[in-house]
Amino acid sequence: MSEMRQRPRRNRKNATVRGFLRETRLSPANLIYPLFFHEHADDAPIASMPGCSRLSLASLVEEAGAARAVGVNAVVLFPAVEEALKTPGAEEAFNPDGLVPRAIKALKEAYPDLVVITDVALDPYSSEGHDGLVAPDGRVLNDETVEVLCRQALSQAMAGADVIAPSDMMDGRVAAIRDALDDSGYEEVSILSYTAKYASAFYGPFRDALDSAPRHGDKQTYQMDPANAREALRECMLDEDEGADMLMVKPAGPYLDVIRLLREATTLPLAAYQVSGEYAMLKAAAERGWLDEKRVVLESLTSIRRAGADAILTYYARQAAEWLG
Ligand code: PBG
Repeated sequence: MSEMRQRPRRNRKNATVRGFLRETRLSPANLIYPLFFHEHADDAPIASMPGCSRLSLASLVEEAGAARAVGVNAVVLFPAVEEALKTPGAEEAFNPDGLVPRAIKALKEAYPDLVVITDVALDPYSSEGHDGLVAPDGRVLNDETVEVLCRQALSQAMAGADVIAPSDMMDGRVAAIRDALDDSGYEEVSILSYTAKYASAFYGPFRDALDSAPRHGDKQTYQMDPANAREALRECMLDEDEGADMLMVKPAGPYLDVIRLLREATTLPLAAYQVSGEYAMLKAAAERGWLDEKRVVLESLTSIRRAGADAILTYYARQAAEWLG
């Protein structure tokens, strides 16, 4: 007779049992697809993100269509803005005929029910490469920046964006953008706030993609210190209070504890961003044959869901959805 009553392995004995006991599900509906695009007619591959390119507007629409076909019906737009259009005041950020408004219109025309999410921050448009306006002494200005962010958000809403995602980490921007949208009749446009966005080295490839690295200094006076978790709770309470509809933690994989912390602290839906550096690491190891790409990608995305994220922004969105079949 066996001495052992507890045999956890009984719950793993075959695929059917494992299937009905599985605690976390990953489906294409959980995924949001970030896309890079530019003004040119050709696509330009991004060296540090194999498989990703700066797309032409036509390719952007095509890629969104391919993602939809496998069940990913949400995209986030990241424009690579021409160097000549970058200014200290980042005025191109709210140009109603700029690249982003044109991309939103093209996407909505092709796929009216596609959920188009836009990034609000000045870095792709700023000759300084910062998310906010920079004072002569190098400080990144808060309240002055928030005014520009409101204009940027409005220009995106006017073009048809469904969800506005401020990634700038200025104080008070969620409330200000909410008010600006409501005052102009855009009560139905959602705000997905980058609540806990860390000053992370994992954004390196993204900054290559957009040529948007800070020209001076770094982003530590506005993005969060990677050593802090409690501080994320403070940002969470503020964003809830300011009227955010959904919150985000970024990066995702190295910050699973923060995802879990916010999951337990808020009733709001939570997103997490598997950022460019996380993508690059997985891609590089897979290309060398050191990791099984499909398995590590699906495991990493499942882990982000398990930590508590409802939605995941990932450059693997289309590919993962294809794998999930
Ligand atoms: C811009 C922005 C960044 C990312 C998303 N929006 C870069 C940054 O803050 O420097 C990073 C995304 C990624 O690395 O995939 N505000």
